[in-house]
Amino acid sequence: MQHFTDKGKMVDAPRQPDAATMAEAAALIAAGQLVAMPTETVYGLAADATNARAVAAIYAAKGRPSFNPLIVHVSDIAMAERYVAPTALARRLASTFWPGPLTLVLPKRSASGIAELVTAGLETVAVRVPAHPVALELIRTSGRPLAAPSANPSGRLSPTRAADVAAELGDKVGLVLDGGPARHGLESTVVEASGEQPVLLRPGAIAAEDIAAVAGRPVLRPEADPSLPSSPGQLASHYAPRAALRLDASDVRTGEALLAFGRDVPATTGPVVNLSPAGDLVEAAANLFAALRTLDASGASAIAVMPIPGHGLGEAIGDRLRRAAAPRG
Ligand code: TXA
Ligand code: MG
Repeated sequence: MQHFTDKGKMVDAPRQPDAATMAEAAALIAAGQLVAMPTETVYGLAADATNARAVAAIYAAKGRPSFNPLIVHVSDIAMAERYVAPTALARRLASTFWPGPLTLVLPKRSASGIAELVTAGLETVAVRVPAHPVALELIRTSGRPLAAPSANPSGRLSPTRAADVAAELGDKVGLVLDGGPARHGLESTVVEASGEQPVLLRPGAIAAEDIAAVAGRPVLRPEADPSLPSSPGQLASHYAPRAALRLDASDVRTGEALLAFGRDVPATTGPVVNLSPAGDLVEAAANLFAALRTLDASGASAIAVMPIPGHGLGEAIGDRLRRAAAPRG
């Protein structure tokens, strides 16, 4: 089956596992096991957010530093309200962008039942309603709020296909649900919405400009104002392929692969992936992680990355590329 995206492009419709597979996945969640699930952003490594042992297994499987809190996935606003206290700003953003790639950080309710490990001891919880039908069905069938980081080993590229998860974490999860390639290919936008002004904790699949338009307020950025809340999970080195990255490249050096964007591509005899020959930032975001994996697999020791505009989704693309290029710890 195929459907049309808002860009008018034909893509495969999200795949839907059969009822028996979904029942098995829900049973694994109830038993405190891990299930890899598709979302519209990237694949997630899901566990019952109220089960501390299950959440600990997520951190262990990813090799993730335990100070990095996780997003809780819920089926709708009403379910979110069991765990967090929404603000007027949060309601406004949620009613426009949910289900979808927006994560809201809000004050935790005192009897939320969310495991401490999910929030890494913070008094806030990050919640989102995913748009992918398989993720929504897993939440509904299991009846549990699902803590789910991207389903990759900590610091590595986020997975946009079930095969990526199976290759890297397959031995650590009970089941990988295949929902087809992730539509956005880039994680959700994380917004702290406890006050009146939205604070952008992580640029993502919804552009900051669109958040500001719906909020009716400019989006604040913690890096511009140290007094604002910030996100503990924003590691300098992240999303890293094996190859080194050279950003804003206008040429390709010997031995380098090329991550291209737009029409005017420098000449090279090495491997090339163009994120969007037409220069479309939405298409480029959707292709980003898969393109980096492809170039990594080519065996090149370095990847030259052409300049990418910083507006719209270009902000999130630039954020991921800078982290991928950062010195590794
Ligand atoms: O698209 C996505 O968001 C994907 C899919 C699977 O939903 N998930 C994802 O999760 O990217 P993860 O764990 O890789 O990133 C969660 C981000 C981190 O930057 C983390 O620091 C931030 O959300 N975060 C989570 N809880 C927070 C909190 N209470 N306060 C501030 N930041 C929080
Ligand atoms: Mg991640």
